[in-house]
Amino acid sequence: MKKRFMYLTLLWVAGPLLSVWAMPALAEPTRVAFLSELPESKDWVLGVYADGMLGVYGELLDEKLDGELQRYLSTTEFEATPMSSEMLPGSGADRVLLVGLGDRDAPRTVLEWQEIGGSSVQAAIAAFEQSPVMVFDVSDDVAANVGFGAKLGSYYFDRYLSDPGKKSPPELLRIITPQAEQAQRLYDTQLEPLANGIWWARDVSNEPANVIYPESFVAFWKQRFKQVDGVRVRALDERDIEKRGMGALYGVGQGSQHPPRLLIAEYRGGQRDAPPVVIVGKGITFDTGGISIKPWDNMWNMKFDMAGAASAMGTLYALAGRKAPLNVVAIAALAENMPGAKAQRPGDIVQSLSGKTIEVRQTDAEGRLVLADAVHYADVTYHPALLVDIATLTGAAVRALGSDYAALLTRHDELVPDFIAAGKASGEELWQLPLNDSHFDAVASKVADVTNFPKGGPGASTGAAFIGEFVREDTHWVHLDIAGVSSSDKATPLKRSPGATSFAIRLLNLYLQEHFEPLQQ
Ligand code: BES
Ligand code: MN
Ligand code: ZN
Repeated sequence: MKKRFMYLTLLWVAGPLLSVWAMPALAEPTRVAFLSELPESKDWVLGVYADGMLGVYGELLDEKLDGELQRYLSTTEFEATPMSSEMLPGSGADRVLLVGLGDRDAPRTVLEWQEIGGSSVQAAIAAFEQSPVMVFDVSDDVAANVGFGAKLGSYYFDRYLSDPGKKSPPELLRIITPQAEQAQRLYDTQLEPLANGIWWARDVSNEPANVIYPESFVAFWKQRFKQVDGVRVRALDERDIEKRGMGALYGVGQGSQHPPRLLIAEYRGGQRDAPPVVIVGKGITFDTGGISIKPWDNMWNMKFDMAGAASAMGTLYALAGRKAPLNVVAIAALAENMPGAKAQRPGDIVQSLSGKTIEVRQTDAEGRLVLADAVHYADVTYHPALLVDIATLTGAAVRALGSDYAALLTRHDELVPDFIAAGKASGEELWQLPLNDSHFDAVASKVADVTNFPKGGPGASTGAAFIGEFVREDTHWVHLDIAGVSSSDKATPLKRSPGATSFAIRLLNLYLQEHFEPLQQ
């Protein structure tokens, strides 16, 4: 091979990777270590129940403090309700932050324990300079979930802050608990992979669109999937996309300097012949609206328009990481929606992979276009047992549900109650919106088989119907419109950083754990 050609090939292959590497290095996610003995420290976070009774570790701390702790707890008005905290006043060299665990006998859900972990770490970061030692006299599974919540609650996207100060997530969180070894095992095998899938999904979504575009999104996840066993990754480039007849995905990407991609990650943990669950994500790395350009005021937010794709990949990362006994495929439909000389125009007619033609009346209704090809590819390639698509699809879903719920739409109503329940249990809540024949009627076009810009009708429903046109009717397909919940600047116990929420990863991890893993092992 000619030398010059070799260098060019090398550059062509490494280019997308280099653009990621050229930025400040990605920090590793916070680690969580469980210990059953009090280490050397001056700063403590101590979980206390409402009854004020100290456990083994509380007693030990109290000795170090000459009984100060016991004295304080018997007189204080601190009620130790969950997610409250209070600094033990004047305790000399040792500083103790008390965090409430509520009534000792009150039943508490896994989610509540995770939130106690998250709010504790946030209070601790505010109170102390160094990463604190968190003392929780609880059972092993509770400790593991406290650790999980603490890790998520400490996440902060600090990569571009020259002086991040306390914003940076701690490298290590130490949790002191009686059954440390069991807690560590449970955490490492089940919860850490989930936390890391969430961590990476948040990172990739928070990255601005000058850093994350289709090729670098692919490079990012290829790098991440090296850390877990058994994930096969491939990506279709713009030539493959065009050649295979994915004209809808191609059309959205054609106006950009950064060509489109279809990223496919497969994990087989279930029975050989068990049909997989396929999760398809909308991956618009930036949505200007295209020629039907968006107004300027909220456009910067459109760097989050690939959050669905990030959550699809993050979910697969979590499932593979914990060696879940099921088969699952994650697909990201990646494009940058830009105006320009090569961009598609309103009125263009494109042919989708399914053969159906689409009249593109509005280039800003691009999510459904890239998904049309991606869900059809998923449906005919894998004959999935369940097909879920996750998309920041419509402003209509935001107006209907705000930031409290993602919209759930499906032709298979029998799937709804279990999805709603998994949403409640995971803290990522869903609300069903209707999907009926009138919504399918609304996507009819006079000059093509369908149009991406329906006249009238509720936007979230007609958006879902458009995608449904490319899925066989008997496939168990569920559409999640996450436009209102994909990013937020509000802090919650499990999210300290402004920006990406990684919505749907915890929800899908739980749903699949409950409904598919028992079947496929
Ligand atoms: N990415 C947007 C939807 C969106 C809006 C996400 C607000 C997050 C917050 C999507 O591509 C879009 O532009 N949808 C249009 C569709 C319409 C033109 C049919 C919308 O909802 O206005
Ligand atoms: Mn759009
Ligand atoms: Zn969009």
